Amino acid sequence: MLKKNLWISVAVALMAGVAGLVVLVTASRLGAEGGRPPRGAGPSRQGAVQGEDPAPVPGSEVEKKILAVLDDMLLNQRRGMMNVSPEDGRLLRLLTEAVGAKHVVEIGTSNGYSGIWFCLALRTTGGKLTTHEIDEGRASLARENFKRAGVADIVTLVMGDAHETVKNVKEPIDILFLDADKPGYNDYLNKLLPLVRPGGLILAHNTSMGRQMEDYLTAITTNPKLDTLFVYKEGAGIAVTLKKRESK
Ligand SMILES: C[S@@+](CC[C@H](N)C(=O)[O-])C[C@H]1O[C@@H](n2cnc3c(N)ncnc32)[C@H](O)[C@@H]1O
Repeated sequence: MLKKNLWISVAVALMAGVAGLVVLVTASRLGAEGGRPPRGAGPSRQGAVQGEDPAPVPGSEVEKKILAVLDDMLLNQRRGMMNVSPEDGRLLRLLTEAVGAKHVVEIGTSNGYSGIWFCLALRTTGGKLTTHEIDEGRASLARENFKRAGVADIVTLVMGDAHETVKNVKEPIDILFLDADKPGYNDYLNKLLPLVRPGGLILAHNTSMGRQMEDYLTAITTNPKLDTLFVYKEGAGIAVTLKKRESK
């Protein structure tokens, strides 16, 4: 009898331990505060923890409103939208602000998630976003999202097959972001590279799907007028390509 009770106690203790571990892992993945996924690359609490990215701290009401919409989209609209991750979005914002971009061209709007990250930067640089989408359903969601984030006035959403619609882009481009059909990246590059200003960037998402864009990867790594670095390789992968300025 004593032996049987001992076994029952051991089994109960083991089960409690496993359940505790599951709760801990789930809480840390979702962000411990109210089951929300972490905003950005880090935990939802603010302040740097060694080895982790802190959540963005809004510096103005405009930024606060935009980040709130991004959080909401992440929680409630993500399914089927193929959005960049929050970490990738933050990188897009950081690069856009760092180069002082006045004109970002995006291929593949979806519901506007990455576009709104760009707009977070463009609000401070005084720039604008031109974004291309082929799917009317996703485009109409994007229009709503741009409105509620308060950035609709700096966005032009172009409907149609971007392989055709990009032919109408005439203005210089500071940042070109490729995030639509992967085998089409090289065609977009050939059509738009002449418009990217020297010192501008071409960002390509999902470079971990390398086999679908081999010609693109060859182009950006062999052209002496370009310099490319692959970042976030453990995730979707982003190729960050600089269109070099002429040496003086
Ligand atoms: C990966 S999703 C874009 C996600 C978006 N950049 C974000 O992070 O929120 C790719 C989008 O490209 C669109 N797309 C695919 N082929 C296209 C084409 N030829 N022209 C325009 N848009 C295209 C798809 O409809 C889809 O919405």
